[in-house]
Amino acid sequence: MTQNVTAAPAAPGSAPAPQWWRDAVIYQVYPRSFADGNGDGMGDLPGIAARLPHLRDLGVDAVWLSPFYASPQADAGYDVADYRAVDPMFGTLTDADALIREAHALGLRVIFDIVPNHCSDRHEWFLQALREGPGAPVRDRFHFLPGKGPDGELPPNDWESVFGGPAWTRVEDGEWYLHLFAPEQPDFNWDHPAVHEEFRSVLRFWLDLGVDGFRVDVAHGLVKASGLPDIGHGEQVKLLGKQEVPYFDQDGVHAIYRDWRRILAEYGGAERIAVAEAWTPTVERSARYLRHDELHQAFNFEYLTTDWDAAALRAVIDRSLTAMNAVDAPATWVLSNHDVVRHATRFADGDGDGDAARGLRRARAATLLMLALPGSAYLYQGEELGLPEVTELPDEVRQDPAFFRGAGQDGTRDGCRVPLPWSGRRAPFGFGPAEGGPSWLPQPDSWQGLSVAAQTGDPDSTLEFYRRALAVRRAHPALGAGRDIVWLPSPEGVLAFRRTGRGGSFVCTVNLTASPLSLPTPGTLLLASADVGPGAGRTVLPADTTVWWAA
Ligand code: GLC
Repeated sequence: MTQNVTAAPAAPGSAPAPQWWRDAVIYQVYPRSFADGNGDGMGDLPGIAARLPHLRDLGVDAVWLSPFYASPQADAGYDVADYRAVDPMFGTLTDADALIREAHALGLRVIFDIVPNHCSDRHEWFLQALREGPGAPVRDRFHFLPGKGPDGELPPNDWESVFGGPAWTRVEDGEWYLHLFAPEQPDFNWDHPAVHEEFRSVLRFWLDLGVDGFRVDVAHGLVKASGLPDIGHGEQVKLLGKQEVPYFDQDGVHAIYRDWRRILAEYGGAERIAVAEAWTPTVERSARYLRHDELHQAFNFEYLTTDWDAAALRAVIDRSLTAMNAVDAPATWVLSNHDVVRHATRFADGDGDGDAARGLRRARAATLLMLALPGSAYLYQGEELGLPEVTELPDEVRQDPAFFRGAGQDGTRDGCRVPLPWSGRRAPFGFGPAEGGPSWLPQPDSWQGLSVAAQTGDPDSTLEFYRRALAVRRAHPALGAGRDIVWLPSPEGVLAFRRTGRGGSFVCTVNLTASPLSLPTPGTLLLASADVGPGAGRTVLPADTTVWWAA
């Protein structure tokens, strides 16, 4: 079925393929909201395929797609009913195959999302487990237990769901099953060999189709502490939590990734990779997922959750590089994804009512800082347009299960999932084929001016800024790959560092203060996130501005 640019085995004796992922810029597509090919108001695979040239022109290396598998959509597709099927609302397996081939033809690699911690409550295994009842061996593929209390009316332990409420739901026959997320997302029991076998097979299914790697959903959650012990204190974990809990980041999880690494390595040509979504207490704990025989990358959530503050950013950058260099893994950097408030709004300060211009200024500066760091960077769709979080969604259109289950997760996640504006004067701004057609979440009218078409060709636009940044990053010999930076002396509130590569040296300067600062000019200006004032030997950096220099 597949014919693609990465599946060919390396010729005997040929040089090992370069490790493309070490400095890759990877763009997250959220399939529901990227582009709607058939006009039903929901994004789909043919819509994505048709818009791939946007990603090539943007200059990213790879695309990661959030799940598009068969799913009742209780958690926007992170509740998978069939890991080998495309949900009809997103298209067909043929569409997935075509998308991989079209991306490869444009020089883009493709990463799919794999969801191994839990499935959907409509997954065949779970339905069978319900049908066959207590004591049936198929129940052991999940965590089914009798409850506590005289009639088993209390959950088996005190764990709470990340989305709020107990992590257990009772079924008709009286047993309870574990779900760290929504009740529609039963957790697999990774002590069961069939679960291992099933995911080996699912990985191979998509690898055979030509996919270049996987983003591993809730990679830190698969293995639970033996005996499922109570936490015993009032404080429960949030997905972003820092506390140690018996269901996250257990040592046993690493054997799974050693196994998966062997599978990925079976495939020839350019390396197939896996990136862990692992919310661990520290970046050092995340590095353990990246030992040489485990996964390739992990999201740097500590970086994502760091405020716009020079000292805090410097500390997390240092810690990340030290931790990742110790295991010879690339550091990764990320500012936004489909689970968090968009960074243009986070950096505006305030809960959606902050200073939007300041938010965007900082967002652009933060992007330039992130893209200057050694390693790999993740972009979330729409950040290249400077999109803010949509904070005014009416309750009746919201779909995030966290919204309905209360205070489980910070905020709600629909506001960063609003469909992208591509062109035109009426919502949904080219998201679907028809002007004024449907979109599963409404876009603000102000997004007309933020569409891809509206920003293309405008040198001041955020889109053109991203395009330039990615082009410079590709071209400059000291950017991208590498492992170290050298901090340069700088005033308080300013970050300045140098990177040296074969054939060039580079300096990045960031003014994180609220005032313009006059700083010594370290070299030739390559790119700035805002207009900088020229001066003899000195340059004025406006507030919240990053500058790249060839130096
Ligand atoms: C991950 C996903 C999130 C999902 C959760 C449960 O954190 O990023 O969107 O709700 O896992 O699958």
